[in-house]
Amino acid sequence: MNDDIDRLTDEDAAAELARLAAEIARYSEAYYQKDAPEISDADYDALVRRNAAIEARFPHLIRPDSPSITVGSAPAAHFRKVRHARPMLSLDNAFDEADVADFIGRVRRFLNLGDGAAVLLTAEPKIDGLSASIRYEKGVLVQAATRGDGQEGEDVTPNIRTLNDVPERLNGQGWPDVFEVRGEVYMAKADFVAMNARQAESGGKIFANPRNAAAGSLRQLDPAITAARPLRFFAHGWGEASSLPADTQMGVMRAIEAWGLPVSGDLGLCATLDDVIAHYRDIERRRADLRFDIDGVVYKVDRLDWQQRLGQVAKAPRWAIAHKFPAERAQTILNTIDTQVGRTGKITPVARLEPVTVGGVTVTNATLHNADEIERLGVRPGDRVVVQRAGDVIPQIVENLTRGEPRAPWHFPTHCAECGSALAREEGEVDWRCTGGLICPAQRVERLRHFVSRYAMDIEGLGLVHIESLFRDGLIHSPADIFRLHRRREELLEREGWGALSVDKLITAIDARRDVPLDRFLFALGIRHVGQVTARDLARRYVSHQALDAVIALALARRDELIPAIGETDEKFATRAARELAAIIDTPGVGPEVAQALVDFFAEPHNREVMADLLGEVRPRDVVFETRASSVSGKTVVFTGTLETMSRNEAKAQAEALGAKVSGSVSAKTDLVVAGPGAGSKLNKAQGLGVAVIDEAAWQAIVAAAGQEG
Ligand code: IVH
Repeated sequence: MNDDIDRLTDEDAAAELARLAAEIARYSEAYYQKDAPEISDADYDALVRRNAAIEARFPHLIRPDSPSITVGSAPAAHFRKVRHARPMLSLDNAFDEADVADFIGRVRRFLNLGDGAAVLLTAEPKIDGLSASIRYEKGVLVQAATRGDGQEGEDVTPNIRTLNDVPERLNGQGWPDVFEVRGEVYMAKADFVAMNARQAESGGKIFANPRNAAAGSLRQLDPAITAARPLRFFAHGWGEASSLPADTQMGVMRAIEAWGLPVSGDLGLCATLDDVIAHYRDIERRRADLRFDIDGVVYKVDRLDWQQRLGQVAKAPRWAIAHKFPAERAQTILNTIDTQVGRTGKITPVARLEPVTVGGVTVTNATLHNADEIERLGVRPGDRVVVQRAGDVIPQIVENLTRGEPRAPWHFPTHCAECGSALAREEGEVDWRCTGGLICPAQRVERLRHFVSRYAMDIEGLGLVHIESLFRDGLIHSPADIFRLHRRREELLEREGWGALSVDKLITAIDARRDVPLDRFLFALGIRHVGQVTARDLARRYVSHQALDAVIALALARRDELIPAIGETDEKFATRAARELAAIIDTPGVGPEVAQALVDFFAEPHNREVMADLLGEVRPRDVVFETRASSVSGKTVVFTGTLETMSRNEAKAQAEALGAKVSGSVSAKTDLVVAGPGAGSKLNKAQGLGVAVIDEAAWQAIVAAAGQEG
């Protein structure tokens, strides 16, 4: 797969390393910070391996932000940060026996061992959870932290204290004054299933897999929530230690166990490659029956003096390796291909399969990702396929075994199965999207939720939960219905949990929003690419002007005018209209992409109807952006780190009210950086560029001086 690396030029390699760094960072953030993996572990590993292979051949091109140097992902903003006394490392992977043999060979060569000398290795399951470092001082738990980026993690002390597996005081005696136990926080498979069932019942978040459930449960700002979650812990090592109770890995692990922390029952010692592989096969065979998910077996050099000598490379020790299990696979028949519509209209093709067991789980559906993937696999209903289930739960089709057989091809739909609107795909994008927008039932609930949300229409008392049930019960179909709810007062009163007081309050709150600033209104429509900032740019541009009408007129009226007059096709018109719109809009931040999205949105008759209906109820108000003279007028400001007295949005609004431009990244054009605790790379960059840096208090002083209270 990596054969092409030999043929890469320097230029190709640099470009590819840049692409891989960005891609891996994105997937890594989705995995570590959002607990929502976007690709399978196997695919992720493949990217990391390709990155490493290219770096091995082009060492001079290794980037400072290379995934081989950075571990995991930077910590999320809301927990206090903890700097690890000793970094929390990651592990290199072995994917087959040959890789393991290489590892042992490397260790022997590095230590310059003679043929006779045995290298004892410990072997234990690689648990699929998240690592934590738990610090004991004089035998008492004083602090616990997540791995974070390996250097700095999140302080989760109160949360870790809620775990039954983790003692508040160490058992016995003779523990070192300072000892950091490191290990894996995980959730047992059965507990995960039961917890998800409870979550489903109470309308809470459903987790994709035990690992994400464990991560989501540990990283709760309210430790009471963590306490209610069935989290467990296995020790697999240690960090800072004022002294050690033994001179082997096994010896220290036994001591940790004696102090009262759980250690895997499958921790064993192996003397030869054959021993190691036998241990691996044994664990692999019992994998499905284990109480928890594992994704491989970890081997560690047993002698600590050797560990010391071996040391580490950028992010992983030389004395340990993770021997990964291959993703589990099975063959089955693909019966049909359906499409699903996501919140933003994204169409995902789904393969309906003849049920098959893959690694102990019955699989009936597999994602096909997008049209390109279907083409790549050449799959059609009736084909025999190979299904793979990796660490995460969405199974994938990896191979089509009957590609050569003559069969009718499957055609990607041209219209949405839910609402019949046309599907559209932008240049350079792989995903098709439903253009039905506000009228597509699959998108409607989510869009309605967006419509009323805080930075959109912000209707007080109309929570996201209400929207869902009012939609389900047919009281709200489209945004305009919200403004007609007062006509259904009696029905509202009959609903559980509603009294006259709350109903009247809601109706008053809704009424108050009939007069809404144009930028909020535009943002609330949920047009692709029209976020808060773009909505504001649009509103600013069209200030005190038939703002909307200008935009819509181009997309609609001109369309009706142009198409018959010059005999253009819809498609050509869309491109032309987008270009015209882009020229007219001519606002920084509003490019052809946004213009195209506006055209697509308003070209859809359903959206026009919904919009006309809504404009019968709501009068968007032209926005006059008043700015006050201040020391930051006309300057470019960047906020970074945690803001303590206000939200990011509020800070941004303040800056704009003072005539400053807010940017997300630091460059030579930045005039001022406002840095809160935890500020990282942006702060460093600002210091490097000599940009002025102030703290939040100093910022508030500037705001106050301009006569604008926070
Ligand atoms: S040892 C210095 N042992 O895997 C080596 N890690 O991919 C540190 N993990 O960050 C790790 N089970 O979160 C070790 N038995 C085990 C493990 C294990 C799971 C995790 C750990 C680590 C990650 C590396």
